[in-house]
Amino acid sequence: MSENTMLRVNERGHLVVGGCDVVELAHKHGTPLYLFDEQRIRDRCREYIGEFSSRYPAVEIAYAGKAALTVGLCRIMCQEGMGLDVASAGELYTALQASFPPERIKMHGNYKSNLEYRMALEAGVGRIVVDSLIELRQLDCWARKLGRTADILIRVRPGIDTHTHELIQTGQVDSKFGLGIYGGEARRGVEMALTMDRLRLRGLHCHIGSQLLETEAFERTIDHMVEFMADVHDGLGCECEDLDLGGGLGIRYTEKDEPPTIAELAETICPHLLRTLDAAGLAHPRLILEPGRSIVGEAGVTVYTIGVVKDIPDLRTYISVDGGLSDNPRPALYDAVYEAVIANRADDEAHTWVRVAGKHCETDTLIEDTAIAKPEPGDLLAVFATGAYNYAMASNYNRFTRPAVVLCCDGRDELLVERETLADLVARDRVPAHLAVEEPARDLCAGQG
Ligand code: LLP
Repeated sequence: MSENTMLRVNERGHLVVGGCDVVELAHKHGTPLYLFDEQRIRDRCREYIGEFSSRYPAVEIAYAGKAALTVGLCRIMCQEGMGLDVASAGELYTALQASFPPERIKMHGNYKSNLEYRMALEAGVGRIVVDSLIELRQLDCWARKLGRTADILIRVRPGIDTHTHELIQTGQVDSKFGLGIYGGEARRGVEMALTMDRLRLRGLHCHIGSQLLETEAFERTIDHMVEFMADVHDGLGCECEDLDLGGGLGIRYTEKDEPPTIAELAETICPHLLRTLDAAGLAHPRLILEPGRSIVGEAGVTVYTIGVVKDIPDLRTYISVDGGLSDNPRPALYDAVYEAVIANRADDEAHTWVRVAGKHCETDTLIEDTAIAKPEPGDLLAVFATGAYNYAMASNYNRFTRPAVVLCCDGRDELLVERETLADLVARDRVPAHLAVEEPARDLCAGQG
């Protein structure tokens, strides 16, 4: 773990996150526990805004809330001057509860429900990103019904293959997202949108994939998008005020990963975009980016308690922790790889190879093989780079309670989300009358959370 940029250790040999002693946090809040380092999140926001604004005239960085969204995280994004990409009624509701300025919100989704159309229009979100021809018609109807107009972007599928896990590629020809450039659907969408009096077409959107570890695909994307912009400009008179290139920048999950820096991403995108626009004779639209993972991913750490250490002679050592699939489904879904450290002995040499298993009734491997200090039951295991798509994708599988989420800054820890309780798990259960018992069950866990 010599290269691990997350490894900060105090004089007691304890891992430190945001100036807080992780062992103390585990005792105070229990485990499993999600931690976010507030300053790291803010630094990433500032880096994005700074690196892009210094290379391109008009930029908006809209945090992709799907990576991790709570009311408190929305407040951070708001204070940092970020926009916000939301992809469901729930994400939009969270943003509105945080008083996030609606004009800085972009509403996404390949299937927007009636509730989502209504909420987005009534809140007056800045952009609705339209994903299909059907949606164009539906949105126009809803806008008329509610007496509103909608500022829209059309999401196009540029036909770009990226080198990432197939489940998180989205810009290729064979994808459910967006309107295809090839085959003419995207052009047809622009043509339709321009005739709809309740819709104001403000520009185009695309998103090619996630956890991208090279920037080259963005250049190809820009080529395709600008060619399309020129086509609809010259052929249909469409002025593109916004060009949204989505998110996708990868992060460092292990010391082997070498993601591009934000500066390198900006250095790839901005000059290439300016050159390509100029060559096509097009005005410079506002550039929007929607990073999610690269804002919060490396700012997150998940802390578990090791319960069981099991040696299988001549094979391996398994350690079981008190979470797993329900707080981090990414290894199971995307073969995601993580690194970890024993948080209460973070300075100890890491030379015991282990497989980290969860405690679900599944083979829920969290880390296939990793070297840590010699583990003992009761030790705390901290898994790094779990800020993106972990809390956001957590479930109650096996009726596990979802962990608390704690924000750490300058040695202070504050709750972003309370730990769920056992009572929460049954709070919405209903017992049909014919199944009811006469004696109500005693709550054996009352007061234990
Ligand atoms: N914009 C759009 C339209 C997106 O669909 C996404 C991610 C983003 C922005 C943000 O991408 P990012 O900067 O985070 O790569 N659950 C998967 C990731 C799914 C990404 C979906 N869309 C995972 O855990 O890897």
